[in-house]
Amino acid sequence: MRKKILAYNRVEKPVLERLQKKYDVQFFKNVDTNTDTEFLDFLQEAEGAIGLELPVDRQLLEHAPNLKIISNVSVGYNNLDLDALKEKNVMATNTPGVLTNTVADTAFGILVAAARRIPELDYYVKEGKWDVEAVGPELFGTNVHHKTLGIIGMGRIGNAIAQRGHFGFDMDILYHSRSSKPEAEKQFNAKYCNLDKLLEASDFVCMITPLTKQTEGMIGKEEFKRMKKSAIFVNASRGKTVVEEDLIEALKQGEIAAAALDVFEQEPIDSDNPLLQMSNVVTTPHIGSSTVETELKMSELAADNLEAGLNGEKPPNLIDASVWDNKG
Ligand code: GLV
Repeated sequence: MRKKILAYNRVEKPVLERLQKKYDVQFFKNVDTNTDTEFLDFLQEAEGAIGLELPVDRQLLEHAPNLKIISNVSVGYNNLDLDALKEKNVMATNTPGVLTNTVADTAFGILVAAARRIPELDYYVKEGKWDVEAVGPELFGTNVHHKTLGIIGMGRIGNAIAQRGHFGFDMDILYHSRSSKPEAEKQFNAKYCNLDKLLEASDFVCMITPLTKQTEGMIGKEEFKRMKKSAIFVNASRGKTVVEEDLIEALKQGEIAAAALDVFEQEPIDSDNPLLQMSNVVTTPHIGSSTVETELKMSELAADNLEAGLNGEKPPNLIDASVWDNKG
């Protein structure tokens, strides 16, 4: 009998077709994973799961007695309860590497968009408001080049953002991370800072740390107060690394100048969220890695991980290697 694979939310079509040749694959989108009976019935039988942001906790695993591997089509894995997975001996994988430059492009794109007010000025032109040849200072932005970029989370993507800032925009790079990164210091002249120092000295503060128990709510009221009044805050990590209420307040009070956000506390964002009323806030719908090329690569890598796990091989991107070691 063909193994059953549960596919969830986002797996690119050619990759779904590849899996369908070998497995009994069922695709689910936007289901309530606690109540959708068709989903839960299929999960009972599934040996593998692949997709984007499937929330996996103890309760869900009760419905998954045959599950061997869950393969995230994302580098982030805050959707997974790793302790619960380990207890049940279920492997979990992610897709690092293939999206690094794409996410860095997004972070830099929204950073520049906020600094130069590009979305706001795009509306201005399209709404027919451009009626004098030379627009006045009320529409001027601020420079990106030669400013100070503070990066919080100096992993692969943080590194790629530093590369863009240093080589592309002649920026001074500050970073805050769990450990110091001598390579980034050598390559980009990046300087390690404690968080307070980074917040005080940066013109752009860019959040790109994974969401963990330690980073949840890492940037809140106090942190926004420390930033320059002219600072532009960029979040391309996860919405919950920031206290969104405090961000809104900081923007309202003029404690920072602007924000560029790809991620939000709640996704999709509520249409009445005050952030959406602010012309100095640039928003994108969590598209950090969402290019045609990169989404395909992520799905392919996730499928490779899944198939390895199903075939009894160690998946290349196993998140918690101790689950494999436990298998003996
Ligand atoms: C995107 O947000 C990812 O984690 O891959």
